[in-house]
Amino acid sequence: MTAPPLLTRSVVVDRLRAAGCVYAEDEAELLLSGATSPSALTAMLDRRVAGLPLEHVLGWVEFLGLRWVVDPGVFVPRRRTELLVRQAAAVATPGSVVVDLCCGSGAVGAALATAVVGAQVHAADIDPAAVRCARANLAAAKGQVYEGDLYEPLPAALRGRVDILLANAPYVPTGSIALMPPEARLHELTVALDGGADGLEVQRRVIAEAPQWLAPGGHLLVETSQEQEAGTAEAFSRNGLHPQVAHCDELDATVVYGTSSAER
Ligand SMILES: C[S@@+](CC[C@H](N)C(=O)[O-])C[C@H]1O[C@@H](n2cnc3c(N)ncnc32)[C@H](O)[C@@H]1O
Repeated sequence: MTAPPLLTRSVVVDRLRAAGCVYAEDEAELLLSGATSPSALTAMLDRRVAGLPLEHVLGWVEFLGLRWVVDPGVFVPRRRTELLVRQAAAVATPGSVVVDLCCGSGAVGAALATAVVGAQVHAADIDPAAVRCARANLAAAKGQVYEGDLYEPLPAALRGRVDILLANAPYVPTGSIALMPPEARLHELTVALDGGADGLEVQRRVIAEAPQWLAPGGHLLVETSQEQEAGTAEAFSRNGLHPQVAHCDELDATVVYGTSSAER
């Protein structure tokens, strides 16, 4: 068997650039440092050039300054979702019971666990590949990960005990999925993106059931978009959770949050 030709840095950059990678030099560095052998580098470069998201090629994503496992097919956590974690960390207290619904890779709950001393993190997702990934990412925090539809797989003992309930559920309107970049459209599952006709169908289900799971004074935080924030906030109001909105222009991020009433 002949060994694959050694790829120089400039060849890697050129191939990435020819494939349309805007940050070809940065990506080349990551591929060169991530490859464990010349043949591994060739395979990684081929996959990237074929259009696989960089994070799926590398097997990790950077989120809030830390590296988290992200397996092929699993939704790649976006930088904008760092606002959701920051907002949650701002209202959490040591030992908070946290539920990360629609957890994907689990990076959201895992990153929050690094910021909140003694956080007890529970996470759930409907996609078995996401659940496997979340179990890896939450292992250090001793988080529990469940597989199923929204709240359905959570232990009943959590009802009325959740201090922080956060969700970056799918919120892309069905009709807009075709307009998404191919990296998302082709390499992330439709179930991770599709929020129904107006994008808010999954969120509305999350928000409607939240009061049954929140502890008195517990907080619900939901990522949305600036265009959809009025609809997300309306769902909070309809369920007795007075909504507030946080924006971060730098991250193009919007989070709606609200607090359960202190009495029951
Ligand atoms: C936009 S991705 C976000 C993943 C993760 N929260 C993040 O920010 O990286 C949405 C996730 O919701 C999950 N999902 C969609 N519908 C669901 C449902 N009915 N029950 C549980 N999880 C669901 C998908 O599998 C996907 O992992």
